[in-house]
Amino acid sequence: MASSIVEKFHSMEYGPAPEDPGEVNRWLDAHKRTFGHFIDGAFTPTGSATKGASLRAFAVKNPATGDVLATVDAADATEVDRAVKAAKAALPGWQALTGHQRARYLYAFARQVQKHSRRLAVLESMDNGKSIRESRDIDIPLVARHFYHHAGWAQLLGTLESGGAGSGFDGEEFRGYVPVGVVGQIIPWNFPLLMFAWKVAPALAAGNTVVIKPAEYTPLTAIAMAEIAEEIGLPKGVLNVINGDGRTGAAIVEHPEIDKIAFTGSTEVGRIIRKATAKTAKKLSLELGGKSPFIVFDDADLDSAVEGLVDGIWFNQGQVCCAGSRLLVQERVAERLYEKIRARMETLRVGSPLDKAVDIGAIVDQVQYDRIVKLIAMGVAEGATCWQPEMPIPSKGLFLRPTLLTDVHPSSTVAQEEIFGPVLASMTFRTPAEAVELANNTTYGLAACVWSESINVALDVAAQMKAGVVWVNSTNLFDAACGFGGYRESGYGREGGKEGMVEYLVPAWTHGEKAKVELVTEPVERDERTEIRDHNAPGIDRTVKQYIGGKQARPDSGYSFPVYGRDAKLVGEAPLGNRKDIRNAVEAARPAGTKWAKAAAHLRAQVLYYIAENLVQRHAEIVAKLAAFVGADQAAIEFDYSVERAFSYAAWCDKFEGSVHNPPFRMVTLAMKEAIGTVGILAPDDAPLLGLLSLIFPAIAMGNAVVAVPSERCATLMGELYQVLDTSDLPGGVVNLVSGKPTELGKTLAEHDDVDAIWSFRDEASSVLVKLGSVGNLKQVWTNEGVAVDWFDPKQAEGRWYLRHATQVKNIWVPYGE
Ligand code: NAI
Repeated sequence: MASSIVEKFHSMEYGPAPEDPGEVNRWLDAHKRTFGHFIDGAFTPTGSATKGASLRAFAVKNPATGDVLATVDAADATEVDRAVKAAKAALPGWQALTGHQRARYLYAFARQVQKHSRRLAVLESMDNGKSIRESRDIDIPLVARHFYHHAGWAQLLGTLESGGAGSGFDGEEFRGYVPVGVVGQIIPWNFPLLMFAWKVAPALAAGNTVVIKPAEYTPLTAIAMAEIAEEIGLPKGVLNVINGDGRTGAAIVEHPEIDKIAFTGSTEVGRIIRKATAKTAKKLSLELGGKSPFIVFDDADLDSAVEGLVDGIWFNQGQVCCAGSRLLVQERVAERLYEKIRARMETLRVGSPLDKAVDIGAIVDQVQYDRIVKLIAMGVAEGATCWQPEMPIPSKGLFLRPTLLTDVHPSSTVAQEEIFGPVLASMTFRTPAEAVELANNTTYGLAACVWSESINVALDVAAQMKAGVVWVNSTNLFDAACGFGGYRESGYGREGGKEGMVEYLVPAWTHGEKAKVELVTEPVERDERTEIRDHNAPGIDRTVKQYIGGKQARPDSGYSFPVYGRDAKLVGEAPLGNRKDIRNAVEAARPAGTKWAKAAAHLRAQVLYYIAENLVQRHAEIVAKLAAFVGADQAAIEFDYSVERAFSYAAWCDKFEGSVHNPPFRMVTLAMKEAIGTVGILAPDDAPLLGLLSLIFPAIAMGNAVVAVPSERCATLMGELYQVLDTSDLPGGVVNLVSGKPTELGKTLAEHDDVDAIWSFRDEASSVLVKLGSVGNLKQVWTNEGVAVDWFDPKQAEGRWYLRHATQVKNIWVPYGE
C-alpha cells in the first residue's frame, strides 16, 4: 500500500495552474493598449512622439506568446528635455517639504504596490517572461520593501534646505549633505519593476527629482508605477517616466540639466555613458554586468548547494546580473555534484510564465535568445560538454532548456563573457587558493557564492573575493537595507542601504556657484641658475628623485625640470617622470597595497601618527622649502594643518568601519568597508603640501596604495616628503610619488588597467582627462570637477566624504540564528 502511494506520488503529473491575466488585459484595454510618457504629472497623448519627431512608437511583446501587449511611444530629445525641465521645476517644491512629508509619499508608493501586487506581478510576467512565482513572491515584495525602507530614510534625513540631516540621525552620517538635483535613471529589462524601485525610492527619499527610462522590452510596470504616482498625488514633475530605446537613454545622459546619471545594464553601455558624461560634472553610478563565481568546497552540503544553484543560475532564466553563472567545484566532489545537479535539472519545469507551477519562463526577446544559443554553441566549439534535460518545452515562445556546461576552460568565452541566460559553466579546482584565483579571474566583480560547512574556509574565501556581494551558503538574497553593487568592471556605486543613499546626496559645500581652479600655465622663462650660483657658495647639489616602491629612483627619461619659487628664482630640479615611471610605481603599488589592506587598522593608525611625528621633526626644513612656493605665512599654516590631518586620519583608521545588517531570511549581512586597491592621485597646486597629503592620508588610512603626482610647480617638495615617509615605518610601495607633467602622468594613470581609482583635484581639464582615461577598465573616478577646494577648511578637506571615496562596501551574507 505504502509503496503504491510513493509510486503514485512519483508518477503524478503537474496539472495546469494558470494565473488569470484578466485584470491586466482589462488594464491594457482601458489604455487602448497604447502609452505615452509620464511628464510633469500627466501622461502625454499617445502618438505625440511621431509628430515631427525622429523616433517612432514601438511594440511591446509578451515573450512567452509573441503577442503584442501594447504600443509605446519613444521619446526624442525634445520630450526628454520637457521631462528634465519638469523635474527641475519640481525640485524647489519637493525639497521644501519636510522629510516626513516626503516619507509619506514613499510610504504611499509601498502601500499601493502591496494593494496592486497581483496585477503588477502578472503584468511583469507578461511583459518580461519571468515566472509568476518569481514576480509574485520575489520581485513585488522586494519593490514594496524598498519603498518602505526609503520612506524611512526620507523621514530620518529631515529637512533638507538647512543643509541636511534635520533629525541628526545616526550621528554625523549625512549632516551637511544635500540632494544632487535632477537625476536621470536608465534601467534594464531583467527586473523592470525592482530596478525602478531601486532607482526611484532612494532618489526621491534624498530629495531629488527623477527622469527615468525603463528598458524598451519591458516598459509596462514602470508605466503602471507612473499611474500610481498620479493616484497618490505625488507633486507634478517629481517623477517623470519616459520610454524609448538606447537613443532616448543617450538623450537623458547628454542632457545638460541633469545632475546625476544612475544606470543599470550592460558594461558596454556603461562605458558609453562614462565617456558621454566625461566632459560634465554629472555624478555617475553604474551597476553593470557580472560573471559571478559559485564556489562549492568538498565539505559543502551538496544538496543545499544544488538548491542554491537553482536560485543562482536558473532564477529569472539566468537573466540576472549577479547570477552564479560560473560553478567552481572542488575536484573531489565534482562528479557527485554534477550528478545531483543533473537530477535536479530534470525536475525543473519550463513553460508559460503565468503557470504557477513553472520554474523557468521565457527569454525576454529574440535578440537575447539568439545570443544565448550562439554562446552555448561557442562554448561547445571551445571544448565544453553541454548537457540539457530531456524535458518538454512549449513549441511557441522564447523558451530555453536549463543548460550545464562542464569541462569549461577558464579562459574560454563562456567562462569570461556574461551569457545572461539559463546556462551554467562549470570548472573544477583543487585548493582554496586555486578557487580564489579562478573566482577572481574575470574583469567583473559583482557577486560570489561560497559553499562550505567550514566557517573558516567560507569567510577566508569571502574576504578574498573581488566582489561587491558575497553569499555564504546562500544565493541571490537581496534586502533594501543591504547595499548592492560591484567592484571593477561591474561598475561603481551601491543601491540600497546607507551606501545607496550616498549616491543621491552631495556635501553642501560642493553645490552652487564655486570658484574654478585656474592653473598657472605661464612657464617661468628666466633661468636663475647662474644668479643663484653667483650669490651662494657652491654647495653639494641635492637631487630630488622619484619615490617608487619605497626607494628613491631616477626618472626613466633621464631628464629633470626646473622648479621656481614664487619670486621666480630657481628652487631646484625635479625628476621628469614618464609613462615608464608610472608603470613602475603601479607595479610596486599592487603587492604593497594587497598587504597593507590586510594590516590591522591600529597598525595603519600607528604609521600615520608616526608620519605626523616625523613631519614635526622636520618642521623647520619643510616650512622653509614650502615658503619658497607659497610664502612664509601659508607655509606655516599648511604645515600645521598637514600634521593635524595625519592625526585626523590616524584617528579614523579604526572608526570608519563597516556595519552589520539584519535582513530577513535568518542571515546577517556584514557590510565591510574595503580598500579600493591602487589609487592614482593628481594633487592640487594651491596648497602643494596640504592638498597632496589631504588626499594621500585618507587613501592609505583605509588600506589603499597610492601613486601620486605632486604639484608640478612645487615638485621639489617631494624630496622632503619621502624622507618623512621613509622614516615612518610605511611599507615600501604603499605611497609612490612621481613628479612630472600632471596631464601626461594623469593620462597614463587613468588609462592603466591595474589602477583601481583615479582622483584628480586640479583644473577642469584634468577632471575630463581622467574620466576619459578611465573608460577602459571603468576605474572609479573622483574629481573636484575643477572647483577650488579650501584645503584649510576641515569641513571641505577631510572626513567622511574622503573616506567614502577611499573605500567600497562588500556585503557578506552569512547564515545566522535559527
Ligand atoms: P543595455 O545595456 O543595452 O540596456 C540597458 C538599458 O540601457 C536599456 O534601458 C537601454 O535602452 C539603455 N541603453 C542602451 N544604449 C544606451 C545608450 N547608448 N545610452 C543610454 N542608455 C542606453 O542591455 P541590453 O542590450 O538590453 O542587453 C545586452 C546584454 O547586457 C545582456 O545580454 C546582458 O549581458 C547585459 N545586461 C546586463 C544587465 C545587468 O543587470 N547587469 C541588464 C541588462 C543587460
